[in-house]
Amino acid sequence: MQYRHLGKWGVQISTVGLGSWLTFGLHVDDDVAAECVKVAFDSGVNWFDTANAYANGQAEVVFGKILKDYPRESFVLATKVWAPMGPGVNDRGLSAKHIREQCHASLRRLQTDYIDIYQCHRPDPGTPVEETIRVMEDLAREGKILYWGCSEWPASLMQEAYDTAYRIGARPLASNQPRYSLLWRNPEPEVFPTTQKLGMGNVVFSPLAHGVLTGKYLPGQAPPPDSRGADEAKNKIMTDLYLKDANLRRVQKLGKLAEKLGITTAQLALAWCLKHPAVTSVIGGVTKVSQWRDNIAAADIELPDDIYRKCCDLFPLPETLAP
Ligand SMILES: NC(=O)c1ccc[n+]([C@@H]2O[C@H](COP(=O)([O-])OP(=O)(O)OC[C@H]3O[C@@H](n4cnc5c(N)ncnc54)[C@H](OP(=O)(O)O)[C@@H]3O)[C@@H](O)[C@H]2O)c1
Repeated sequence: MQYRHLGKWGVQISTVGLGSWLTFGLHVDDDVAAECVKVAFDSGVNWFDTANAYANGQAEVVFGKILKDYPRESFVLATKVWAPMGPGVNDRGLSAKHIREQCHASLRRLQTDYIDIYQCHRPDPGTPVEETIRVMEDLAREGKILYWGCSEWPASLMQEAYDTAYRIGARPLASNQPRYSLLWRNPEPEVFPTTQKLGMGNVVFSPLAHGVLTGKYLPGQAPPPDSRGADEAKNKIMTDLYLKDANLRRVQKLGKLAEKLGITTAQLALAWCLKHPAVTSVIGGVTKVSQWRDNIAAADIELPDDIYRKCCDLFPLPETLAP
């Protein structure tokens, strides 16, 4: 297993982490979740990603039950706040009130004293960024969180938050969690350079484009019956963003490149993400232990430069984003 610093910060995380959206506490049995965590520890994976809103708190509950059997210092735990957790006007967003209340709720569900990386799930235009920074600083000084970060914030907001944190003597963002894959290279022109300048790590989500980059979806054919693509409760984003025949044909070509290297298509797609110098770790979402083993192995693959470039050529940056 490879480990990387979270940007310029001291903590080191494995280049593959285990996620929990649409899986733990929802569509994946708790014993499968426990086995995935065990396989993670056995393989050297040392970090886990969840959110208060995943399965309405149940993903955190499942992680809490499983992780209490492992030494707290042996893993890095990341969760998130922002998404609605109730019907009230203050049950969402990044206000001091909601962040403090949800931090306490997450600590209870996760059965832990502290969160290693507390992430703002999205921007909240209704709250001054200074308010969010101050409550993160307070929680850190109380020992309830160690680092804080964001997910899908634009580069300009990360810069503003960084400048504000320094102006008021608070700790700045340490991490960013953007969507990133061969089929979503959007962070490359602005977000990645900004995070690199600010010393933030990037833990990237949906690195397999919801499974499309595994090669299991074939052009002109219905999705495999037990896949996310076949489930209308789960496939809205992937249908909108990725599940198109033109993409699926390119993924089949990616599979040929992977074959040459003797690795799976999923491993090539993950190793491609990890080759970008701004990327700290890819977050693996899985429904089966076999998928998890497949994905973890990507951490040890050193992708040759020529194959990396061939992948980039096969999935170019969209013209609207090209410099
Ligand atoms: N910050 C955010 O806003 C945000 C948003 C989304 C996700 N996330 C985080 O990122 C994590 C990963 O996101 P994601 O689930 O969209 O990631 P993904 O890796 O793009 O897709 C994961 C899905 O692909 C399929 N899959 C994974 N590995 C496979 C393999 N080796 N072979 C075949 N199929 C495989 C599985 O679905 P099926 O078996 O059902 O087909 C799995 O659930 C989440 O768990 C969450 O922690 C964060």
